[in-house]
Amino acid sequence: MMKVVICEDQATAVARTAAEIIQQVQSRSASVLGLATGHTMDAVYASLVAGHDTGQVGFSQVRSFNLDEYIGLGPDHPQSFAQYMAHAFFDRVDIPLAHKRLPNGDTRDPNSEAASYEAAIEAAGGIDLQLLGLGTNGHIGFNEPGSSARSKTRVVALTQATRTANQRDFGAAEAVPASAITMGIATILSARRIVLLALGKEKAEAVARMVDGPVSPSCPASALQTHTDITVFLDPAAACKLSPPDANIHDHSGIDG
Ligand code: GLP
Repeated sequence: MMKVVICEDQATAVARTAAEIIQQVQSRSASVLGLATGHTMDAVYASLVAGHDTGQVGFSQVRSFNLDEYIGLGPDHPQSFAQYMAHAFFDRVDIPLAHKRLPNGDTRDPNSEAASYEAAIEAAGGIDLQLLGLGTNGHIGFNEPGSSARSKTRVVALTQATRTANQRDFGAAEAVPASAITMGIATILSARRIVLLALGKEKAEAVARMVDGPVSPSCPASALQTHTDITVFLDPAAACKLSPPDANIHDHSGIDG
């Protein structure tokens, strides 16, 4: 079931998202987390780091798998998702080096890297909680429109829309890599729980298609409607195009609610 929680503001939506992750790790210290990148996640990781620093949560037994990585960027490349994760989270908490994985975008054989990444997730026992953001075109991870609900971790071409959306990290859309390795829709759906965070009016159209639209490859995130345990945290701007029944599921109960 997809639970949609419209929070009173961005800070509350971020705090609620981080609280789900913290509660997951508190209840199972050896949780397998699926992690996401993107600017939306900056404040989520800051909140997790704060929870770590205050002793509320520890990550020493957690294992993590990130959703995706650009092909052609090594883990030391400043615009790689590996570097994003290092700066935002990994270097600031107690998660062991060997426990954190992203697809290696700097490989001679991306197809084989994708297959071994999928196998590694299975070997870890699957993902307990998957954190997701949302692309303005409805993508999750880098599953662009047209992605099959049966897709596994694989090599994908990025759309011009995504390269343009992500250009602020690279200076120009042409500088954004043209392809990536991403967990597939089926990989994401195999997580036991999913928490998605979308903020701001630029996500409103994609949010409405994800929640209210038909389940269709034209909006990859709509496949999440078929998951048994997904919670979507929104701010009012991201929720503004939802149909009235969804828009009535307001939740102002705060981070403990
Ligand atoms: C990126 C990532 C996604 C992310 C999305 C939104 O391209 N591959 O995992 O959810 O785009 O990013 P942002 O939070 O910066 O809007």
